[in-house]
Amino acid sequence: MAQAATARASTPKVQQTKLLIDNQWVEAADGKSFSTYNPATGEVIAQVAEGSAADVDKAVKSARRALESGPWSTMDAADRGRLLYKLADLVEKHANELAALESLNCGKTISDSKGDMEGVVNTLRYYGGWADKVEGRTIPVRGSFLSYTLRQPVGVVGQIIPWNFPLLMLAWKWGPALTCGNTIVMKPAEQTPLSALRLGELAIEAGFPAGVINLINGFGETAGAALVAHPGVDKIAFTGHVDTAKIIQKQAADTLKRTTFELGGKSPNVVFADADMDAAVAGAFHAIYFHGGQCCTAGSRLFIEKKVHQEFVERLAEKAKTRKIGDPLDPSTQQGPQVSQEQMDKILHYVELGQKQGATLLTGGERFGDRGFFVEPTIFDNVKDDMAIARDEIFGPVVSVLPFSGVDEVVARANDTTYGLAAAIWTKDIDKAHLFAKNVKAGTVWVNCYHVVDATTPFGGFKMSGQGRENGEAAIEHYTETKTVTIKLG
Ligand code: NAI
Ligand code: MG
Repeated sequence: MAQAATARASTPKVQQTKLLIDNQWVEAADGKSFSTYNPATGEVIAQVAEGSAADVDKAVKSARRALESGPWSTMDAADRGRLLYKLADLVEKHANELAALESLNCGKTISDSKGDMEGVVNTLRYYGGWADKVEGRTIPVRGSFLSYTLRQPVGVVGQIIPWNFPLLMLAWKWGPALTCGNTIVMKPAEQTPLSALRLGELAIEAGFPAGVINLINGFGETAGAALVAHPGVDKIAFTGHVDTAKIIQKQAADTLKRTTFELGGKSPNVVFADADMDAAVAGAFHAIYFHGGQCCTAGSRLFIEKKVHQEFVERLAEKAKTRKIGDPLDPSTQQGPQVSQEQMDKILHYVELGQKQGATLLTGGERFGDRGFFVEPTIFDNVKDDMAIARDEIFGPVVSVLPFSGVDEVVARANDTTYGLAAAIWTKDIDKAHLFAKNVKAGTVWVNCYHVVDATTPFGGFKMSGQGRENGEAAIEHYTETKTVTIKLG
């Protein structure tokens, strides 16, 4: 391996900690700030301006001005696309720095962060290409009329994102919003504001006019809630916990805002005895332990056909024991810390519950080290469908192994959840694969692979895993209003 790939990434310099309103970097109206942490050490990295309702109001007014007057409102669609391409180029140019900042603030390994940056670039370019391809229709109405549709921006969109994929979630929300001509007030997660702020700087450098992109750091109950309640916001796009989505949907009802939600899951990952075992073991491992299990699509319910159950869990446990946990900026690290003390405590609480309710703790289950928020890769075997660890989203490196016998049984058990984000099957039998894909209730189904997500493919949840879809053409639908124009002829 080349020297460069084995060297520890240098700790990035924090350049921006303020709020972005109307292309100006400003302190919070009330002068408040909050600490942002390095989850690998628990130490404070920086103080970040803490937005509240007054700042949200200023940002919404700026976004409204940009929407209705000024260069953005009359810009050619193709030129909006060019701005997205420019931003993508800037992310590519600064990818190493951005990845290191993401690892520092969020704790994801530097190799995962670099993967995220590729996703960010791909997403911005994909949506840049859409800008001049969002078309209306002409419609053959009755009578002597010409009817056609215009696709117009929804307006000022409030975007609230979580901490697990900070910049990738930003790109999933900026890309479709901007290509359709909307303007944005975004609230990054309170745990991980730093990379979004750096992207705000790059957006100004790319040439986005004032007010098109605003960033308000702060907490959900204050800045987030103010954004949801604001009558000048036309839509809320949210990624996070299902209980937060319920609060947002109720509050958004007062102004009847459009809402889209991308929520969590308890995704079934099903391994049949006829699968390629090496691929299935590696795949099941990646499904749960990628980013320490802090993935909405984490394969946290691992159904294994009884014939191969024993062999499979032994191989999985072997792999878990050799996982290299530690400094996220070291390229040889395979698992970094959980994002916060709160998340680590939640995970360890579920480990305790799993043991109390009678599941077999095969490996892991402890905090790793005594500094930072690390948790060992954990396997619970012989889990029952009604145990808390099989029902609740843990959002950590904890997998529940559930043995099964047949395809109908496993489809019914896979669907016995309030969630429906993702599902996967490992088999060489094409009939089983198609049957499962058709009958499992999930927005994404993987066959002999896992966590394959692309800017081009619709992503979202059935049931309580969400509403609407992100990525692909599907997101364009959610960021446009359709207007019918009818003209009397003759
Ligand atoms: P959360 O849903 O509370 O936070 C996500 C975002 O929503 C953050 O920006 C937060 O500030 C904001 N928010 C919180 N309350 C709000 C409110 N009342 N109004 C407006 N915005 C609000 O999630 P949290 O507390 O960070 O994590 C808790 C659990 O949520 C995790 O353990 C995990 O199970 C789940 N989660 C799921 C994610 C996913 O990708 N689907 C991402 C992050 C968390
Ligand atoms: Mg919360």
